[in-house]
Amino acid sequence: MADIAIVGAGFVGLINAVGLAELGHHVAVIEADENKVESLSRDRMPVYEPDLQDLWQAHRKAGTIHITASYTEALADRQFCFIAVGTPAGLDGVPDLRNFYAAVDTIVAAASNPLTIVIKSTVPVGTAEQVQARMALPKNGSRNAAPVVSNPEFLSEGRGVSDFFHPDRIIIGSDSREVGGDVAQLYAATGVPEVFCDNRTAEMIKYVSNAFLATKISLINEIAWICEHLKVDVNGVAAAVGMDNRIGPAFLRAGLGWGGSCFPKDLTALSRMASQAGVSHDVLDAVATTNHRQPRMLVDQVKDLLGTLDGKTIGVLGLSFKPGTNDLRDSPSISLTTRLQTEGCIIRAYDPKAMDDAAGVLSGVTFCASAYETARGCDAVVLATDWPEFKELDLKKLGSLMKQPVFLDGRNMFDPQEASDAGLIYSGVGRGHSARLGRIDRQSVHP
Ligand code: UGA
Repeated sequence: MADIAIVGAGFVGLINAVGLAELGHHVAVIEADENKVESLSRDRMPVYEPDLQDLWQAHRKAGTIHITASYTEALADRQFCFIAVGTPAGLDGVPDLRNFYAAVDTIVAAASNPLTIVIKSTVPVGTAEQVQARMALPKNGSRNAAPVVSNPEFLSEGRGVSDFFHPDRIIIGSDSREVGGDVAQLYAATGVPEVFCDNRTAEMIKYVSNAFLATKISLINEIAWICEHLKVDVNGVAAAVGMDNRIGPAFLRAGLGWGGSCFPKDLTALSRMASQAGVSHDVLDAVATTNHRQPRMLVDQVKDLLGTLDGKTIGVLGLSFKPGTNDLRDSPSISLTTRLQTEGCIIRAYDPKAMDDAAGVLSGVTFCASAYETARGCDAVVLATDWPEFKELDLKKLGSLMKQPVFLDGRNMFDPQEASDAGLIYSGVGRGHSARLGRIDRQSVHP
């Protein structure tokens, strides 16, 4: 059992806190924002994440986790200090490391005993070396150099707690096998294989993993539009292509595109690192360009189906960037919604978890209590985020509430034939069905 401090009570910091506490360690979470400290001391989570609150509450009660704003208090007698602060895109897409280095400097000044620094934040290649150099500098007369281990996270929002316990591998980047081994030991109870490497390699693995996943999605999205025109269903193609072990089935779901707080910023950061090194990054650029195009393509599809968008009422189902989270950052659904508004559409919207946050991001939208309520009186409904509850929708009922049953499945959740049998004028992303399922009969839609 180890004594661990974690700087940053965001998604990554909190998941690691409850995860490490579950593995038997004692965790002190350091958070600069006093409001967050106050909320967390009352077990109120700043992010929605399945199982997080229950575990947090249980460990706080048991005394195996505590939250504080004081570095000095949290670092006393700790062996490890994880840094899990945000590294958002700064000017020109280069990650903004101000909070990160502020945390490093404060740790240096506050630590009273030898510590191993563990970097969880996603940081550009070479950052661990910079931290090491910074720590070797005497600060306020205190401090000796501390070992720095790069231990990137692969937690995905909406299933972060489960990802913590079941990752495919744990990356341990360190110049010292012994120090790396100490950090690996913290996770020993998970039984997950470790990959030992140097810090730079660990930092690069994180960026490349996200870049690969985003590339898979962008490629299948491009393929989807080709499928659409060749009258082939991309879902069937992706399922069979994914059975090839060399390709794999994950991240081949065509749709509105990828968003969130990670892929967009990490892809840009990787491109910037390439530029700075004087290396071209055409594939990375294409992956981003294809993704930006997706919401626009969907808007064009709605326009194509309705003839015109001006004055039309559109229902948007799902606002978060993916299911299982209330996170709206770079959400393709938000991009789609604002584009529709620009085209003169009146928007009704529903999301199972992100309504409160959405009210702060979108204006002029009628937020509804359910998917059915959203559909009422709509000229078309667009499914933008694949929340499992949407799969349970009674499509017949949904269509009956609409002015006309035009349904754009932006996440290819439904079987085109079933949707059509339920009376919907269905269109998806690359389902190649438009012609087969009776491409909308303008007469019936615009009587
Ligand atoms: C991503 C990675 O999956 C994590 O491994 C990583 O730790 C994390 O970024 C990070 O860097 O912190 P996350 O952003 O939570 O996790 O979301 P993903 O599940 O990867 O989904 C990203 C986007 O891709 C979502 O908008 C989702 O809807 C979209 N997506 C995903 C598709 O459009 N198609 C797919 O087949 C899969």
